[in-house]
Amino acid sequence: MKIGILSDLHVDKNNAPGQMSVQEALARSAREREAELLIVAGDVSDDHRVTLRVLEEIERKAGVPCLFVPGNHDLWNVARPDEDAWTAYEALLQFRHNLASAPYLLGDRWVVIGDAGWFDFSFGNADRYAEADFLQMELGGRMWKDKRYVRWDRSPADMARYFRDKLETQLAAYEDRHIIFVTHVVPDASLTIPESRKDWDYFNAFLGSRLYGDLIREYGHSIPCAISGHVHYRKQVSLNGTELISSCLGYRREWRHSQDTYREVSRALGVIDIDVAI
Ligand SMILES: [Fe+2]
Repeated sequence: MKIGILSDLHVDKNNAPGQMSVQEALARSAREREAELLIVAGDVSDDHRVTLRVLEEIERKAGVPCLFVPGNHDLWNVARPDEDAWTAYEALLQFRHNLASAPYLLGDRWVVIGDAGWFDFSFGNADRYAEADFLQMELGGRMWKDKRYVRWDRSPADMARYFRDKLETQLAAYEDRHIIFVTHVVPDASLTIPESRKDWDYFNAFLGSRLYGDLIREYGHSIPCAISGHVHYRKQVSLNGTELISSCLGYRREWRHSQDTYREVSRALGVIDIDVAI
């Protein structure tokens, strides 16, 4: 079974009049590559209502299920500042293939398990910055915008733990299957931004949590592949036998083919091929 993988579509920023939309390009590319399932690992848009509409459009046009986990942008309240992040998170559960509702079974032997995940500063450089610095979510005049637009009812570290505990319950329940594990945030430092890039020894703090890498190690015998997004990379690395796959579209200004949406989406779409009978 061929599974198409993409994240960080950012349709509200990337779609432009006169250009093919990102969702249309994804659906076409999925058909062309004969994907029988899609996994979108978050950051469809900055508004959960737009995200819901676009996910439905992708499924309709691609003709296959599109599994989804929310990204931090999907939880932004920029359009409705009075809403907290749980409101967006719960609204997104209306989409029937949101993995935050339930794992998705693939035949008798495989399952896809996932959720947004959150950051707990564990990828920031703790030798240079204290926890109080990370809690500021601002450095040198640059703000990590989740500070303004994502309002949970608990600390980032407690959110990271909440998702970790939820995911672990599901991993334990399906340990006897092959598991495709999906988070929006990154599970391992190998997927963060090199510290040599200005201020990323600080901003890596907001990219994910080691808790998810620890889960992948603990259940690695059952997890051939773990998908994440968030960093706008296309990268694959091995972690103790689990393939970590980052297959992000990112912003148009970061694209190689910035004038050709279909070409760029086709380039970014990762495809894995699994034998669901094994
Ligand atoms: Fe993100």
